[in-house]
Amino acid sequence: MNNLTGKTALVTGASRGIGRASALALAQAGAQVLVHYSSGEKEADAVVADIRAAGGNAQKVAANLRQADGPHELAKQVRAVIGHRLDILVANAGISKAASIEDTTVEDFDNLFAVNVRAPFFLVQQLLPVMCKGSSVVLLSSLAARAAVGTLPAYAATKGAVDTLVRHFASALGERGIRVNAVAPGVVETDMSNFTKTDSGREVTLNMQALKRVAQPDDIGGAVAFLASDAARWITGETLHVDGGSKL
Ligand SMILES: NC(=O)c1ccc[n+]([C@@H]2O[C@H](COP(=O)([O-])OP(=O)(O)OC[C@H]3O[C@@H](n4cnc5c(N)ncnc54)[C@H](OP(=O)(O)O)[C@@H]3O)[C@@H](O)[C@H]2O)c1
Repeated sequence: MNNLTGKTALVTGASRGIGRASALALAQAGAQVLVHYSSGEKEADAVVADIRAAGGNAQKVAANLRQADGPHELAKQVRAVIGHRLDILVANAGISKAASIEDTTVEDFDNLFAVNVRAPFFLVQQLLPVMCKGSSVVLLSSLAARAAVGTLPAYAATKGAVDTLVRHFASALGERGIRVNAVAPGVVETDMSNFTKTDSGREVTLNMQALKRVAQPDDIGGAVAFLASDAARWITGETLHVDGGSKL
């Protein structure tokens, strides 16, 4: 169903966690995958090696998406590798910081918005010239955008902004045949949500979910590959909750 043979894909933040799982899922479906990283070059090399070992096609690309020109720099590298057609953009790279309203600094706030909102916005802008009819953009939202979970007001606001971008991008790009959606995970066991490794963190997580296990990155990667595929050809402007029934 998710046949992506012959398609080109960029996954940001693919060195670890959900990005890594998304890159593997897209490659397994047949796409050529550009594995983006910032600080995790060794980890990105390992993802590329895993994809190639399974018979797939992957290259690494690097950029710090906290820098204002990071998306522009990344888009240049991507265009140099894939030429003039990008079929799939997964804007996954993100940061979080738990802090109360009182404890959130201006620097934290600006960093969160730079990586989680500004970078996906300008990456879409910079890659639009190589996206065409049938291309698909998948952004990473979060359960935090629709429910007060954890102590994450600034982070949650970045994901609310992502949901808004999805609708506006989808509306603006539909004419060109480009679909734009988001996946909104609940808690997923990654470096970002490493509290799931403690008994109390695990209990809090399971208590808010209908399904009683802690999500792993590949629970999300499959949903990303689905949204990128032709099986989702009539879905655009949507945020798909992939959260085991969290906060129902
Ligand atoms: N884990 C969860 O519970 C959860 C829940 C809902 C939504 N999400 C969202 O899912 C996405 C992935 O989260 P994750 O849990 O997989 O996170 P993670 O394990 O912490 O990985 C974050 C990824 O983002 C990249 N990244 C971070 N800062 C960057 C920067 N300045 N420039 C470029 N790349 C940068 C990292 O690259 P390097 O390591 O190479 O620097 C890494 O590949 C994020 O958007 C997150 O908000 C996660």
